[in-house]
Amino acid sequence: MDEAYLLPRPASIEDPLRIAVLISGGGSGLAALLRYQASEVRTHQTVLILADSEAAAGLEHGDSLGIETHGISLPALKDKVQRRLAHEELVHTALVNAEVELIVLSGYMRILTPSFVKRWKGRLVNIHPSLLPKYPGAHAHRDALADGATVSGCTVHLVDEGVDSGMILAQSEVPIHPDDTESDLQERIKKVEHLLYPEVIDRLSIGGYSV
Ligand code: GRF
Repeated sequence: MDEAYLLPRPASIEDPLRIAVLISGGGSGLAALLRYQASEVRTHQTVLILADSEAAAGLEHGDSLGIETHGISLPALKDKVQRRLAHEELVHTALVNAEVELIVLSGYMRILTPSFVKRWKGRLVNIHPSLLPKYPGAHAHRDALADGATVSGCTVHLVDEGVDSGMILAQSEVPIHPDDTESDLQERIKKVEHLLYPEVIDRLSIGGYSV
């Protein structure tokens, strides 16, 4: 049986929620969240930034602000399953050591195993660039265009044991224009992602959702 969601404690300005942001690439969503947190006193703060590679460009956003930031590459193990589990163990240890209370996946391109999800379920959120349940997986923009869709957007959801299948917390829509390329659509969706994700994290951090 799947585990139930256990949401984070309701935090306050005096005692903000300790957030880790996990990225794989350029981290424009991470940068937007950091700007949001720096612009006013908030009920959440980013205390840890992790990437699944030391080469992830987005790591610079944390380094430049003095936030604890690590690229954790996959360990050199032959067996793929063992490699993935050992990597998750390193990530889990870093999260526990930094006393993280909420994990924010922001362009993290690894599918987490059910055993990892189980340990963080309800305290693990993701943003996906489509209106789920439409177009889950790694090619949301391509799939939306191939489908002839006229609307797409983004979804923030709690992570469960499936792929892009957890409880939906919020969505934003954007139009698709007839001559859009994948990168046009990606850029248009990122703009709304950068507004929606911080709003959802605000609400999550003050106990504004129930499961
Ligand atoms: C975002 O569009 C997010 O929805 C998807 O990956 C992209 C990350 O972009 N999962 P960035 O690295 O934050 O620029």
